[in-house]
Amino acid sequence: MGVLAGKEIVLGVTGGIAAYKACEIIRELKGEGANVTTILTASGSQFLTPLTLQTLSKNPVVMDLWNLISESEIGHISLAQRAHLLLIAPATGNILGKIRGGIADDMLSTVVMATAAPVVLAPAMNTQMYASAAVRENVAVLRSRGFLFVEPDEGELACGTVGPGRLAAVGKIVEMVRIVLAEKILKGKKVVVSAGPTAESIDPVRFLSNRASGKMGFALARAARRFGADVTLVSGPTALADPYFMKTVHVRTAEEMQTAVDRESADADAIVMCAAVADFRAARISPTKIKKDGGGWNLELSPTVDILDRLGRDKGRRVLVGFAAETGDIEQNAIGKMRKKNLDAIVANDVSRADIGFESDDNEVRIFFSDGEVRELPLATKEGIAVGIWLALHGKLFAR
Ligand code: C5P
Repeated sequence: MGVLAGKEIVLGVTGGIAAYKACEIIRELKGEGANVTTILTASGSQFLTPLTLQTLSKNPVVMDLWNLISESEIGHISLAQRAHLLLIAPATGNILGKIRGGIADDMLSTVVMATAAPVVLAPAMNTQMYASAAVRENVAVLRSRGFLFVEPDEGELACGTVGPGRLAAVGKIVEMVRIVLAEKILKGKKVVVSAGPTAESIDPVRFLSNRASGKMGFALARAARRFGADVTLVSGPTALADPYFMKTVHVRTAEEMQTAVDRESADADAIVMCAAVADFRAARISPTKIKKDGGGWNLELSPTVDILDRLGRDKGRRVLVGFAAETGDIEQNAIGKMRKKNLDAIVANDVSRADIGFESDDNEVRIFFSDGEVRELPLATKEGIAVGIWLALHGKLFAR
């Protein structure tokens, strides 16, 4: 179950052209099991009809502070109290000013004032408005009061201007909601996760790599971020977009991955090496494309550095977790690797199965701990497995 299941989210929609994106936000939040109640401001209703929001949210849309019927059922105080989170997307310059100034002259501004729940603001406005002294100051003051922001993206705005001001991507806004609502079991922890394959060049056009998609490592990084960790993702080449709200370091070769992991993990509490690092690279990289001559070709390979093995020799107080992609004798191979590399735990998966592992969206793993305990995580999405891995690691390794 995702972090949004059963959560009460109040979504404020204010009067900007980006208001239409609120529809997509509602669908995403509801799709993950949240109950969404929308408050539409008077100017918001110029862009979007309450019927649209009501149909998508399957809840009455709250608009009027002075409507006696709706006030008796979903009044401003009960809305403010039952919300686990209040999200305003899009947030206009006007609503930022009202919140900062302590004005409560309509339903949305009143609920903001009355709630103790976290408030996430996703501003969207013309570049010049966003850059104005008033808005800059309002954002700074609201931040200092604990309001959370999802900064607007840069791009072409509806008014034709190009610059910052466009509502952040819906996926980014929803990710912030997940981060705010998730339990903070990894708060204060610095975590480095590696993901994806590495690619070892043979010549300017050819390389050696493997089938790792990066999905498991990216899911682990996202889950750790939601659990409150400070996360750095070190990724080999993948087709995936960088996860939001963390630092992603892109590398290509095993050597580059080692440099990046070493640099990023000096003060880490945990390093989870999920990457399928190449074990061999070309002994020599040809500077020019190797020509075919009709005959065969022997490629000489040299071993790469084993990053985990090196980390295990100078482990310090860091929690070290490896992955073992196996096609047979899973338990024996995984435990052997854990011991040899001096790890605290190893996550083993059977990559001979087509339904899980490489490229798949699903996985099924066993976690072997150095004290002999084994945890099984049955078939689930990689997102779900990632949550399970962190819960297991937290229970066994961090809670001490
Ligand atoms: O020994 P094997 O390569 O199967 O071990 C897999 C684990 O070791 C994974 O966690 C992988 O990220 C890590 N590894 C590494 N450096 C390598 C090869 C593997 O850190 N060169």
